Amino acid sequence: MATDREIAGIQHKNIEKVNQQKNPFTIAEEYGKYSKDDLTIDISYKGSKELTKDLQKWCFKLAEKNVGPHYKACSLGWQPKFKQNDMKRPWAKFLIAKCGQENAGYTMFRFDMDYGRSVIYCYELQIDEKYQNKGLGEHFMKCLEKLAKVWQMERIVLTVLTNNDGALRFYKRLGYTVDETSPDDEPSYQIFSKEV
Ligand SMILES: CC(C)(COP(=O)(O)OP(=O)(O)OC[C@H]1O[C@@H](n2cnc3c(N)ncnc32)[C@H](O)[C@@H]1OP(=O)(O)O)[C@@H](O)C(=O)NCCC(=O)NCCS
Repeated sequence: MATDREIAGIQHKNIEKVNQQKNPFTIAEEYGKYSKDDLTIDISYKGSKELTKDLQKWCFKLAEKNVGPHYKACSLGWQPKFKQNDMKRPWAKFLIAKCGQENAGYTMFRFDMDYGRSVIYCYELQIDEKYQNKGLGEHFMKCLEKLAKVWQMERIVLTVLTNNDGALRFYKRLGYTVDETSPDDEPSYQIFSKEV
């Protein structure tokens, strides 16, 4: 039986390996297209360095529009510089959904160790209003779950604001539950996770 130290060594190696990949999504190629009724969406991977300034701006503006009001309504407040800087970090990875030439949504995530577990941490999941309620958010989460499986991560972890009822309902429906690391004394947000 492997010792804790040996397991930690394997987890770190897995993260190191996936972070060396130019495109960790090629291995999950079948998830690169999403179709529902008359909607056809293409999903592509971009590391933070490959994100054009325009795309970076679009990602930020969509987060500002979608969740800015939720942040402003709680004690965390909206911190634009913080979000913008995170999007440029070397570890930031993106899946971008396009319908033809139009951007429809994205998720930003990283492969990381989190309280001794190897995880995909989902920092953003943002769907343009026009494309919401069509199953695209669920498809993005399936993409992350597939990536976690193939790159041997243990969990998907994410943060949800407690005033974001739609997102709470969405994640619960997909089987996410409050993570053991979620702080009890924090009314503004909860950490959710799902084993993969
Ligand atoms: C929360 C969010 C990511 C969900 O993405 P989405 O693409 O709208 O989600 P889905 O379409 O997969 O599911 C949403 C709802 O539509 C329903 N739905 C799923 N497929 C559908 C379809 N083909 N047609 C109609 N409804 C559908 C689901 O039952 C679900 O119901 P629920 O609200 O009770 O969970 C998206 O609404 C969003 O970007 N919201 C604003 C930003 C945000 O809150 N992000 C999360 C931050 S933690």
